[in-house]
Amino acid sequence: MRYANTVLETLGNTPMIKLQGLSKMLDCTVLVKNEAANPSLSIKDRVANYMLEKAEQDQKIKSGGTIIEATSGNAGISLAMVAAAKGYRMISVLSEKQSQEKKEILKALGSEVIVCPSDLHPNDARSAYAVASRLHDRTPNSWFVSQHNNKCNPLAHYESTGPEIWEQTDGQVTHFITTVNTGGTISGVSKFLKEKNPNIKSWGVDAYGSILKKYFETGLTDLNEVYPYETEGVGVHFVPENFNVSLVDGMQKITDRDTKKLAKEEGLLLGNSVGAVIKAALNLKDQFNKEDTVVLLANDHGTRYLSKVYNEDWMQQKGFTEQPARTAIDLIKNPDEDVITVKTSELVSHAVGRMRKFKISQIPVVDKQGFVGSIDEMALFSAYLDDHRKSDTPISEVMNKSFPMVQEFTPIEEVLDLIRKGNSAVLVALENEKHGIITKSDVLTHIQ
Ligand SMILES: Cc1ncc(COP(=O)(O)O)c(C=O)c1O
Repeated sequence: MRYANTVLETLGNTPMIKLQGLSKMLDCTVLVKNEAANPSLSIKDRVANYMLEKAEQDQKIKSGGTIIEATSGNAGISLAMVAAAKGYRMISVLSEKQSQEKKEILKALGSEVIVCPSDLHPNDARSAYAVASRLHDRTPNSWFVSQHNNKCNPLAHYESTGPEIWEQTDGQVTHFITTVNTGGTISGVSKFLKEKNPNIKSWGVDAYGSILKKYFETGLTDLNEVYPYETEGVGVHFVPENFNVSLVDGMQKITDRDTKKLAKEEGLLLGNSVGAVIKAALNLKDQFNKEDTVVLLANDHGTRYLSKVYNEDWMQQKGFTEQPARTAIDLIKNPDEDVITVKTSELVSHAVGRMRKFKISQIPVVDKQGFVGSIDEMALFSAYLDDHRKSDTPISEVMNKSFPMVQEFTPIEEVLDLIRKGNSAVLVALENEKHGIITKSDVLTHIQ
């Protein structure tokens, strides 16, 4: 019989897979190290197990103790898995932006979950890091993992991920690209690979809104670089001790929108940070020769992001869709729903109530003939300024001219032209006999 005694014996030894499409595009061999093949579906399984074993050896935690970590999800999930297998209590402190799936998985593995606001500096008392640290102070026999500073984090990669990459490529790896959060992966893997061959180039991927690239280039921590972004597990707002810049050859910054999907092209359902790595590889095309072997690291599995990058509505809401809009219908949020209107005989107060209820800034006016006018915030604002009793006035007395109407197959350029000419919205006659509306903000979401 061949079986593992516990799940902990099944960590690592993940497969390396050639990316056919990307290899053609970059005209070299592009491989992905698929860390989603770890038992809890991310690279952090290696780190969690290694860090806990060391904490046990150093008596930082004893039987029945509590593991506490501030985590972007994956480290918490791996720690929760290891904690369950070894009988420890686990508390994960997450920031709001982590996907719902990650929170549910943590709970399923028996972890307690505390959610803090996103994008705060660790010195801020409300940040996940500060909350986890306070919890540790208050909880007897607890161990605060602190993966950003814990030296066992890069060591786990130095001892397992790095050697696996070297062996799987038969020592032919020339470039390594990975996202940076704690810095554990890039520092540990790069140290091992560069000891084997100092010519190997290591590239880190950071997010717009994070400070790591600037720190790498200037040694400065510029808090003006900090702003919120969506990609999980990429970048941070402080410099982690585990980010060893001397082992890194260059950094790329990606936008949230650059997250690409390998699922449809290669059958690989991977997490959002590999999308950032792929975008970085595409940007670095000029760096690679035909004989090069570029290894990309995929940190986690796509099922962790079913409500995010793999959800078309979410992608559209965030303005991340890659399908360019071609005709008017592509800009309509809900083509199956009729546009919200107000009748000429209704009062200004009705229009205001409807605009508030549906959170819209303009509303078309209809009578028996169809669309005959429009009301927008500016028209209402000036009406109220003139006379506060205007709320009882019929719409017909304050409305502006009707929004222009186009067909659903009208090219997008014509719609943009109408908005450019000062119309705050454009109506669209749909083939289902309903009408849609395209507002300035729909256009902005599309072009951002
Ligand atoms: C999805 C994801 N990608 C990338 C990383 C970055 O890895 P590291 O912390 O080793 O820098 C993390 C780490 O939290 C992650 O969760």
